[in-house]
Amino acid sequence: MNIILLGPPGAGKGTQARRLEERHGIVQLSTGDMLRAAVAAGTPLGLQAKAVMDRGELVPDDVMVGLIDARIVADDCRRGFILDGFPRTAAQASALDAMLERRGLGLDAVIELAVDEPALVERITGRFTCARCGTGYHDRFKRPRVDGVCDVCGNSQFVRRADDNAVTVRTRLKAYRDQTAPILPYYRERGLLHTVDGMAEMAKVGAAIDEVLSETATAATEH
Ligand code: AP5
Ligand code: MG
Repeated sequence: MNIILLGPPGAGKGTQARRLEERHGIVQLSTGDMLRAAVAAGTPLGLQAKAVMDRGELVPDDVMVGLIDARIVADDCRRGFILDGFPRTAAQASALDAMLERRGLGLDAVIELAVDEPALVERITGRFTCARCGTGYHDRFKRPRVDGVCDVCGNSQFVRRADDNAVTVRTRLKAYRDQTAPILPYYRERGLLHTVDGMAEMAKVGAAIDEVLSETATAATEH
């Protein structure tokens, strides 16, 4: 199953992609995580991307398309993948169609997480992740069971993203409104778009996504 998770910064794409990965055995492909890994490793891509990301703007389309094109052929994508953060522009959406077609692959569902903008700023500025295993937490909405200790790996070091500040968030939200939201009709017209209430509790959002995916699977077997 090949799925796209769409939504503004802080909508819960990463949270839900990780959950889908665990439950359905399909791999999360987060372009933001790929770029942050490149920044941390100091590669030429990382050096190019860092300033753009810190401003909250989008990295050039050709760079992003190249990253995904190379990634979806890996062995771990054979059972399917969840695109988290890609496509983000009309050019990326059409490049994705071309690369899937070239490989005889298709899209099963595009899931939009709909969230009110004021809630996003609070979600983003309160977010932190385990420095070792990457498990995500939130100052208010998802604290570790024991303060200062990761629930999953027991590590006690956490990190916050450089672009998770109130100023950059505004630019990221504008980039979403201006460049990403316009691709929603592209998927709606093809009957692929499903909108889920991203304001609900995390588990409820996950259940709504599972429902969409099981309806999609049923529809596919009926055809
Ligand atoms: P990216 O890493 O993709 O960031 P983003 O789209 O801004 O999205 P976030 O990761 O901030 O949010 P999320 O939806 O994953 O939310 P999360 O689950 O963490 O991109 C970063 C940058 O890289 C871009 O700005 C750009 O520069 C570049 N880039 C990446 N891809 C690109 C592309 N294709 N083209 C060009 N440039 C690209 O949740 C947020 C918080 O809320 C968490 O703390 C979580 O615990 C909490 N939360 C989640 N769900 C709920 C809920 N239901 N209720 C309460 N709290 C919740
Ligand atoms: Mg994310």
